Amino acid sequence: MVNDAHTPTFENLHRERRTFKPAVGFAVHANARAYEYKKAGVDRLEYWREAAMRLAWHRPFTEILDWTDAPFARWFYDGTLNACDNAVDRHVREGRGDRVAFHFEGEPGDTQTLTYADMHERVQRAANGLASLGVRMGDRVAIYLPQIPEAVVAMLACARIGAIHSVVFGGFSAESLRQRIDDAEAKLVITADGGNRRGAHLALKPLVDEALAAGDHHPEECASVKNVLVVRRTGQDTAWTEGRDLWWHDVVDPQPADHEPVWVPAEHPLFILYTSGTTGTPKGLFHSTGGYLAGAAHTHRMVFDLKPETDVYWCTADVGWITGHSYIVYGPMTNGATQVLYEGTPDTPHRGRWWEIVEKYGVTIFYTAPTAIRTFMKWGEAIPDGYDLGSLRLLGSVGEPINPEAWMWHRRVIGGDRCPVVDTWWQTETGAIMISPLPGVTATKPGSAMTPMPGISVDVVDDAGVPVGPGEAGYLVITEPWPSMLRGIWADPVRYGRTYWNRFDGMYFAGDGAKKDVDGDLWLLGRIDDVMNVSGHRLTTTEIEHALVSHPWVAEAAVVGAQDEVTGQAVVAFVIVRQDADAVPTDGDEVAAALREHVRHEIGALARPRTILVVSEVPKTRSGKIMRRLLRDVAERRPVGDVTTLADSSVMDAIRDGLAAGTKD
Ligand code: PRX
Repeated sequence: MVNDAHTPTFENLHRERRTFKPAVGFAVHANARAYEYKKAGVDRLEYWREAAMRLAWHRPFTEILDWTDAPFARWFYDGTLNACDNAVDRHVREGRGDRVAFHFEGEPGDTQTLTYADMHERVQRAANGLASLGVRMGDRVAIYLPQIPEAVVAMLACARIGAIHSVVFGGFSAESLRQRIDDAEAKLVITADGGNRRGAHLALKPLVDEALAAGDHHPEECASVKNVLVVRRTGQDTAWTEGRDLWWHDVVDPQPADHEPVWVPAEHPLFILYTSGTTGTPKGLFHSTGGYLAGAAHTHRMVFDLKPETDVYWCTADVGWITGHSYIVYGPMTNGATQVLYEGTPDTPHRGRWWEIVEKYGVTIFYTAPTAIRTFMKWGEAIPDGYDLGSLRLLGSVGEPINPEAWMWHRRVIGGDRCPVVDTWWQTETGAIMISPLPGVTATKPGSAMTPMPGISVDVVDDAGVPVGPGEAGYLVITEPWPSMLRGIWADPVRYGRTYWNRFDGMYFAGDGAKKDVDGDLWLLGRIDDVMNVSGHRLTTTEIEHALVSHPWVAEAAVVGAQDEVTGQAVVAFVIVRQDADAVPTDGDEVAAALREHVRHEIGALARPRTILVVSEVPKTRSGKIMRRLLRDVAERRPVGDVTTLADSSVMDAIRDGLAAGTKD
């Protein structure tokens, strides 16, 4: 049975008594050791110095941290290196060129096996290709690709020449893509004709064309973009702008497979990644090269216990998100991992596809999201039971709080009760895992991310910034800088300080609620701001409200995240239709269908509301603030809470009566 409570509630936390001690057989060979905590506790900077020394430096660093200009940090800043050299060249140089880097599995069943030597050849050609288009160190390149090897090659080729990539998830709309290209002033867009999704061809290039053209929202074309480089993936017909559009195979394939990496200072930005903030506009978070790479590689080795000679590692995230950046591209490749890269969805062509892949490649380490686990729970354990999952030895979870039932199911059904489960808490901002059990060391509790990683200082504080006691809930903060921390918000340093460092003096405020139990272990309680977590994707109420009110029928919109059995949270929108708008259908379902499509067009399918309710009013305080708490009560079909602060307390009755009269999910 899937439990309704996805976020651990205080009640079930107190009930949770199960712990799973590390198996001795696992512990003796584990990469992580209990003394790491002590070592990092004694000298945090020395701990990180040693972690960073594992990277290949061109000019070794001598300085560890400069925090004099806090909250702007500089780590390992007098060193130079190249992220692509670490992820690829180094393995070839040190005799590991024959090791498989990727077992690629396309959705239609096409496969490719790419060794580190193959990747080396590809990144060098691609780097020469980008350089031939005039892309230079510091230039921004937008990448809008399906989950195919070229996505990894494109990211690494940018890193190789010191260009800053900005990957935009292929599920985002043309409008979202345009915003991101514009904000980063990208010189080049790398895309594909399309990708494969659920047996169909999904077009990507037409969305790039739409993003770059002048349109309703934006009278000017995206002026910064000089070229669009197009990978042929599906063979779809594609409109072509001569002089701007170029095929990847025409530009990259003829290039020499010989390119010297550009050695960049450790603080040189490696990439920008946009994420939802509490206001409507996405924030372009950017990460450094040295500190980020040290954090991603170190945490990957410790948390996933990677043994690169024997493990087959599979992270099911898309490279368009931070999880794909840190735990497909930069962390695992720097550690020389052999990985599975899969283009498609878990249910194409059948619901056993993921388990078939685990069996086929002998996957040993498997990292996925709670929403996927809950989907598999719903489909029933007979499906994974039909495959040999005996190769698995470690399971990970990321993206949202994992409910104890899903944790237990993951451990029992997928992991055959023998694999440690690591629930990893982190964010686009943190670059790497901040809170997680260490496999082989930590006794785990289902639903808890347990303790901060060695070298990471985390606390839970009250409104005044004072640490809360055991058993109390509060705000999650990180109290010391860490190597893979974001270095800022692109072109907006003021917003960086205001967003993350102002709430509590000198501490990084994560935006999450958390609780320490009596043992001091951490339980994440979800976002405390207007950020929603839908299937592990981060969205804000405001960005969806903006999208809704941009439709001519909508006068006002209020969006909330309501609990959902599979997706964790789901988008529920309350809209007030304009009285003066032409031709608004009288049927609420018709209005809802049109508006859902509109949100898909404005932001992307991931933001489409599950439910849209047409209402005559939304509840507001006397100062005009929407009371989302009450709307959440309605969306989750609970009795409505305290309405005494409402400007007009009859509003909730009207909403309830309207609902009873008919609009449905
Ligand atoms: O609320 C937390 C949730 O995801 C947010 C970060 O989202 P994003 O930047 O998109 O990165 C997701 C992948 C790292 C956090 O503020 N979150 C992520 N992992 C967990 C989690 N909540 C609870 N438990 C987790 N393991």
